[in-house]
Amino acid sequence: MNSNSGVALTAPNHRKPQTLSDKIAFAFVKALRCVADRFFARRYGHRAVVLETVAAVPGMVGGLLQHLSALRRIRDDHGWIRTLLDEAENERMHLMTFIEIAKPSRFERWLVMATQFVFYNAYFFLYLFSPRTAHRVVGYFEEEAVVSYTQYLAEVDAGRHENVPAPQLAIDYWQLPEDARLRDVIIAVRADEAGHRDVNHEFADQLNRRRNDNAEQRPSPELGASGNTLTEADA
Ligand SMILES: [Fe+2]
Ligand SMILES: [Fe+2]
Repeated sequence: MNSNSGVALTAPNHRKPQTLSDKIAFAFVKALRCVADRFFARRYGHRAVVLETVAAVPGMVGGLLQHLSALRRIRDDHGWIRTLLDEAENERMHLMTFIEIAKPSRFERWLVMATQFVFYNAYFFLYLFSPRTAHRVVGYFEEEAVVSYTQYLAEVDAGRHENVPAPQLAIDYWQLPEDARLRDVIIAVRADEAGHRDVNHEFADQLNRRRNDNAEQRPSPELGASGNTLTEADA
């Protein structure tokens, strides 16, 4: 438990890392969490603004690469593209909402630009070469997002953050009551993040199963057969 807020620091529905890919994804996200905790501390509104600019990238990158893959391979995407693009749109709405609540400083705006430059390129290549790891990274990001919004909620409930009226944009988007407040917005956003968490872990699981199936079906090299092997990057 976090002694300050009384909020469990262990993410609910935590997916235990099993494969090497999972462990790399988990370690990467935990390292980023440490950096974010040091930088933002309890400035949850500012944390949300900066991190939502990052969170809105993976869905668009994944959607683009799945789209290109579906075109190349002339095969159905099983709804993945729409799901990923919807995730990107939803994350952008999180950003538009929190920008009304916390205005980023000049340094934070610079940080957003620098982070986007690095993260977009890194995530693009990660997804290109290992979509399984990329979805697992997002699954773990979203676990951390659920924890952060739970802590934010606790701060509001404890009166350490003013429970300001919800921005009109948020009321319209989540169809909240007209007298909705920040607390209602945080609950709605946290539910979205939990949905992204489950979807991305599920996508990583599906890619993992496909990879294992392909490994089982792959003919032994000693037989000299040329198998139709699907690499992870093809997924
Ligand atoms: Fe978000
Ligand atoms: Fe999310």
